[in-house]
Amino acid sequence: MSVPIQDSNESTLSRRGADLASGRNKRDLVSAILGGIWDPVTNPDVILNIGTAENYLALEDVADFVKSKDLQLDGPAFDYGEGPWGSSRLRNGMAKFMNRYFKPHTPVKPDQLQGSNGCTGMFHMLGTVIGDPGDGILLTKPCYVALSHDFNLSAKMEPVFVPFGETDQFCPEAIECYEKALQKAEKEGIKIRALVLCNPHNPLGRCYHEDTIIELMKFCKKHKIHMIADEIYAMSVYEVPGVEAVPFTSVLSLDYSQYMDPNYLHHVYGMSKDFACGGLRVALLYTKNTELSRAISAITDFSHTGQMDERVASVILEDEDWLDGFLDTGRMRLATNNRLTKALLDDAGIKYNSGANAGFFLWVDLSPWLDRFEGKDEWEREDKMLKAMLGNKLFLTGGRGQSAERAGFFRLVFSRSEATLREGIKRLVKTLEG
Ligand SMILES: Cc1ncc(COP(=O)(O)O)c(C=O)c1O
Repeated sequence: MSVPIQDSNESTLSRRGADLASGRNKRDLVSAILGGIWDPVTNPDVILNIGTAENYLALEDVADFVKSKDLQLDGPAFDYGEGPWGSSRLRNGMAKFMNRYFKPHTPVKPDQLQGSNGCTGMFHMLGTVIGDPGDGILLTKPCYVALSHDFNLSAKMEPVFVPFGETDQFCPEAIECYEKALQKAEKEGIKIRALVLCNPHNPLGRCYHEDTIIELMKFCKKHKIHMIADEIYAMSVYEVPGVEAVPFTSVLSLDYSQYMDPNYLHHVYGMSKDFACGGLRVALLYTKNTELSRAISAITDFSHTGQMDERVASVILEDEDWLDGFLDTGRMRLATNNRLTKALLDDAGIKYNSGANAGFFLWVDLSPWLDRFEGKDEWEREDKMLKAMLGNKLFLTGGRGQSAERAGFFRLVFSRSEATLREGIKRLVKTLEG
């Protein structure tokens, strides 16, 4: 007779480990979606993914460029490098890039930059050093899907979502909504420590008016809270005919010391979106706050970017002539695909936010079809709709996970081939019509 080694109900893990293990299994969920790029001929059986924000339109361009360069893969390229703060070559390259493209009010110095293996890791570190467990971080509704997770999972900051109702969140009037959310949270005992300004906005694909940014800076000053500016889509702002779109303004281009204490502003930028390099795992934080920098340096070993990634990123950042062409072509392709996707959605009678001029996505309104799906409320119906899409081998990011204010909204990513978009929208219509 065999003796059970371990009671099957008893966790082998710490309370924290057991908690993590019992949560939603991200690996199961994501590996099905990221099972390869759908192609009608070479890869027809995987889920057609028009939900995750990667720029497939530029992958081959960046790959061809890097292949044409000598990465100098000699012996020292395989050691630990200069450490987890980012090599001086990478920080020089990024400072040069930022000084050219972000038009900072005062030049960015390489020593003010701190590397990590992606913005995701940087958010986790920022949460750790800015907030104590239970402190609040203000996030918009809707919001980039991972932000609450990035600040909460380990740092244990409390996401406090700002609802905007009928107010345009890109205009200065929206500050009132931040004020209300902050007051409500503080009444509930949550001390707000920071807000995230995701500009251009994911998932809405719009940019903030300069006046709104300034008002948000004053709001941060008034309440002594940090502003974390995530500008990862800064170079993916494209032309949209007939739309009065707001151009991108970087927080760095403003003389922000006029509006807030510079020690409270932190800028995060990475290679994943504008450079189509999500696989590189490179991001940099710019801050003038030396105390915060030192605190992050103390924990950054867990977010060390590999030397290979640093070398590839440096090669990309250093070639300005190539970059000008690459970024221009990228914006033109995004504009073309934005137009195509809107035409396909118009044909299908699906509404979307027509004002988007940045990022890779449209915010589509599938709420008219919610009542075709079962559920005790609209959010459950949205979940069922998402399941039905997956049943039809289609993935779009659901609004619930993105803290949407109303059920039935999805983020559709259009940085895909024309064949993918046509087939994806065909599958979407099939799902909606059941
Ligand atoms: C707004 C925004 N910030 C950050 C990230 C994650 O960046 P990284 O790949 O550098 O971790 C994403 C990825 O989707 C994003 O959309």
